[in-house]
Amino acid sequence: MKTLIAYFSRADENYFGGAMRYIKVGNTEVVVGKMRELIDADVFKIEMKKPYSPVYMTCINEAKDDLRKNARPELVSLPESIDGYDNIILAYPNYWGTVPMAVATFLEAFDFSGKTLLPLCTNEGSGMGHSERDVMKMCRGANVVKGLSITGSAAESSKESVKRWLISNGMI
Ligand SMILES: Cc1cc2nc3c(=O)[nH]c(=O)nc-3n(C[C@H](O)[C@H](O)[C@H](O)COP(=O)(O)O)c2cc1C
Repeated sequence: MKTLIAYFSRADENYFGGAMRYIKVGNTEVVVGKMRELIDADVFKIEMKKPYSPVYMTCINEAKDDLRKNARPELVSLPESIDGYDNIILAYPNYWGTVPMAVATFLEAFDFSGKTLLPLCTNEGSGMGHSERDVMKMCRGANVVKGLSITGSAAESSKESVKRWLISNGMI
């Protein structure tokens, strides 16, 4: 069984329990780091050609605008193929209740039928939002399992929940 971890994450200014803070590694990327200590997988970072602003409030508006327009932002690159993978772990932050639009660009570039897709969503209180439903719509034919919601600001202490989720899905 071969696994790909595909993730989107934004560093720079973010909101942590009432205060803004500049971070070098985004919350989702921190969680992905914990996951890499637990399983053997290839890793792909979903990156926008024109990334959102490092300023939190500007980013919030840019992302909202992309959602409203149902945009598909251009990516820096895409994996050549996902044919060799049985499982795809898709990790992303909750942006306005769903996946960042760059994740939609990624998902629509491939055929996921017959694959197992495991969604992991970091957020500050909205959980998975409606991201699982949206992911299912974009990956027809995939077996989308119940996702894992992680509080982004507590990403550093997420390893145990990530481990339990991976075990419950037969990944460990
Ligand atoms: C554009 C934007 C929209 C967001 N929308 C939500 C939201 O609707 N619900 C929520 O709980 N958190 C929301 N957040 C918080 C992020 O989901 C959370 O900080 C996440 O861990 C960020 O992950 P990252 O550092 O990997 O990018 C939003 C953050 C941004 C930047």
